[in-house]
Amino acid sequence: MIWKPQPRQAVFMARPEYEALYGGAAGGGKSDALVIEALRQVHIPHYKALILRKTFPQLAELVDKTLNYYPRAYPKARYNSTTHTWTFPTGAKILFGAMQYGKDKTKYQGQAYDFIAFDELTHFTFEEYSYLFSRNRPNGPGTRVYLRSTANPGGVGHGWVKERFITAGPPMTPIQEEVSWREPDGREVRQKQSRIFVPSSVFDNPALLENDPQYIQRLASMPEAERNALLYGDWDSFSGQVFTEWRNDPGHYEDRKGTHVISPFRIPETWRIWSALDWGYSRPFSVGWYAVDHERRLYRIREFYGCTGTPNVGLKWEPGEVARAIRSIEGEDPNLKGKKISRVGDPAIWGSDGTESIGSLFERERIYWEKGNHARLDGKMQIHHRLSFDENGIPLLYVFNSCKHFIRTVPNLVYDESNVEDVDTAGEDHIYDELRYVCMKNPIAPRPRLVTGASDYDPLDLGKTGSYDRYEFYRRY
Ligand SMILES: Nc1ncnc2c1ncn2[C@@H]1O[C@H](COP(=O)(O)OP(=O)(O)O)[C@@H](O)[C@H]1O
Ligand SMILES: [Mg+2]
Repeated sequence: MIWKPQPRQAVFMARPEYEALYGGAAGGGKSDALVIEALRQVHIPHYKALILRKTFPQLAELVDKTLNYYPRAYPKARYNSTTHTWTFPTGAKILFGAMQYGKDKTKYQGQAYDFIAFDELTHFTFEEYSYLFSRNRPNGPGTRVYLRSTANPGGVGHGWVKERFITAGPPMTPIQEEVSWREPDGREVRQKQSRIFVPSSVFDNPALLENDPQYIQRLASMPEAERNALLYGDWDSFSGQVFTEWRNDPGHYEDRKGTHVISPFRIPETWRIWSALDWGYSRPFSVGWYAVDHERRLYRIREFYGCTGTPNVGLKWEPGEVARAIRSIEGEDPNLKGKKISRVGDPAIWGSDGTESIGSLFERERIYWEKGNHARLDGKMQIHHRLSFDENGIPLLYVFNSCKHFIRTVPNLVYDESNVEDVDTAGEDHIYDELRYVCMKNPIAPRPRLVTGASDYDPLDLGKTGSYDRYEFYRRY
């Protein structure tokens, strides 16, 4: 026996759905299950499979797994390390691939893969995933065409993966999506496409625990967010999240304590109203309306997000069209109707190389955006200051629960791996950008830090008296 699925892996490998996501926590035997799954159809000569990781260096782990398992099951199978391809005696192929750079897409253009596997799906954007979707086609008769993925919480794709597989339905419950298209003869065709999430964690991997009994302990000793994500598969807290202060507590939508999301209410006449724009065409544009109370607290009261319904894909509207929609919202929303509105926009809409700028196309419709301040880190700090709660659980930024896209995207933003202080702009960051412009127009000072005394952990030994004493010690002797 070369490899035998453990019970959870067997469940995953038996699923009939077109798409399945396996895992949601570390060590559940996810990558093993994927590389073995890829073998299922190698008896068919025209079968072609593609196994993906975000970067080539990360693929090494998977290649090593196959170098261990494949030759034992198929002694005549050959691996070509230049083309990253396994070829089986029938002619069937299993390829490894990465999507590190935008141009990597072209490598898969015009290709068909009967089976596609994504390892660590949250490292990919939805755009990359859906592009390869289109490459998931049969190479000949008799193959099964399907897609399998694994993931842990966190990463730039956290938001869309969570939405697609985790919150769309309970685990182990098939999720049906209707897809429709028009045939050349005009007929509309509708078809159901199914997907499922099969959870697993280290507790489902006795083989690992036997080889490495300390593994659980190592996961348990990680910082809280990472521990909850990797050990328990908690998708609400994950490492790399930028706005860890974010709270959405429906139990407090009315009293507004300990939550940033609240129930809408009628804005008093004396509060100032702002509107902010982040421009997008093939990416979503975002327009947000904010009210400012007499304590400089911001309330996001309305949003207009130009997204097709596919994460991070824009409506491709002209500026004039967006401007007219803004006017119509402002003429109808009771919190905006008849109000004087100050506007701040994406400074990039004024850049123009001779053609009429987006900013001036808005002006034709009598929508005047002031240039926003693009200082990214300052803007980010302003948001942190505003999200922090005072001793009564009151923050300086509230979001009406009707602002669904804000609630969907801002909490899922992650740090950039190379620019570690800033937000990863490959994420869906348009609402965040627009929020920054408003915050920079209404800057506030940080709140004095609340001392909670919760942590005794002091790796740098900076505890007040301790370091003072020690300093004294060196000075005196
Ligand atoms: N069915 C199995 N039989 C034996 N060992 C397994 C099996 N599934 C996983 N393992 C081992 O458990 C360890 C973790 O598995 P892996 O697939 O890398 O986990 P994950 O990708 O979920 O982090 C690896 O050493 C792997 O070889
Ligand atoms: Mg893995």
